[in-house]
Amino acid sequence: MRILVTGGCGFIGSSFVRLVLAERPDWEVVNLDKLTYAGRLENLRDVEADPRYRVLRGDICDPEAVHDAMVGCTLAVNFAAETHVDRSLLGAAHFIDTDIKGVLVLLEEARRLGLARFVQISTDEVYGSIESGSFTETSLLNPRNPYSASKAGGDRLAYAYWSTYGVPVIITRASNNYGPYQYPEKLIPLFVTNALRGQALPLYGDGRNVRDWLHVSDHCRAILFLLEHGTPGEVYNVAGDNERENIEITRKILHLLGRPESLITPVQDRVGHDRRYSLDASKLGGLGFRPRVDFEQGIAETVRWYVENEWWWKPLKDHDGEFRRYYEQQYGERLG
Ligand code: NAD
Ligand code: TYD
Repeated sequence: MRILVTGGCGFIGSSFVRLVLAERPDWEVVNLDKLTYAGRLENLRDVEADPRYRVLRGDICDPEAVHDAMVGCTLAVNFAAETHVDRSLLGAAHFIDTDIKGVLVLLEEARRLGLARFVQISTDEVYGSIESGSFTETSLLNPRNPYSASKAGGDRLAYAYWSTYGVPVIITRASNNYGPYQYPEKLIPLFVTNALRGQALPLYGDGRNVRDWLHVSDHCRAILFLLEHGTPGEVYNVAGDNERENIEITRKILHLLGRPESLITPVQDRVGHDRRYSLDASKLGGLGFRPRVDFEQGIAETVRWYVENEWWWKPLKDHDGEFRRYYEQQYGERLG
């Protein structure tokens, strides 16, 4: 069995590649990744010598690159995407390209080659914000920023390839992931690495927006589970059942690191900032899947990972001009 993983050098994709190589000894993995700022070969340094693993540098928008990577595969999971909401507010063109047009290229090739399963990794953000209660898979989609709008486009295109051409597509919509190897633009790794250096933690608005936090290993287990037990044409929510206000996450990080709360710096809010995400994942639970990682343990281990793995994030924050330019653009004025 050979599986194509796209975006496998990113945060979640790299965790999934590692899981598959560890848990499915007779599977081969082909990883197609453009290696954008977020895709890093070092995320999979520990498995790069495995003969069952192959990485190809290429763009999912390029039909030839997609054909070369997909031919010979039976399964595919598409993680490749532009993923950061704040960047989508600075410019959405790359999001439309990768998160919509790239998905189309993948689906066309999956159709031509007759893949047995194609999993499209979508997100809870396609539902938009919810004040109370939780979204189910049949809730209306109401994406409210360019990132979530482009993800909704990819999500529905995947569904269209099932309903029109019978491509055996499965769509997952997960909540916010946390864990090792997350690019330090996202809340948790940004705040941990800033706090370690005694730098300000730029908390948007009143800090009371709510996210549901899912450990990346549980998300990846759910994807593998659905590859084998999910029904084509279906959407599955994947939740962590861990809703927290951002201020609570921030205080937890500072507490775990023994750093002062004076580092918390309220800054101008993100425009169109979704207030709360919440998922009802009983459909996946009904198939017998349960997340394993307890949040208190998961966040403590995650914070410790960044403390112990400066080799991973320090060069990225200090020597990658791309990160510095982004940080200045995003936070320069906000932090004065
Ligand atoms: P990430 O930004 O860490 O990694 C994205 C990966 O995709 C990188 O390796 C990048 O190089 C690659 N990529 C980008 N454009 C590409 C292209 N055109 N062709 C080939 N490769 C390309 O993202 P992540 O956090 O690991 O997210 C993975 C997927 O999960 C995304 O589809 C995202 O929308 C979804 N998701 C993420 C979260 C979260 O909390 N991080 C939650 C739910 C869903
Ligand atoms: P983020 O990690 O960007 O994920 P998403 O926007 O996809 O949920 O942000 C998580 C929450 O943290 C979100 O409510 C925005 C907030 N946030 C801040 O307050 N400050 C920051 O610097 C960042 C990056 C996020």
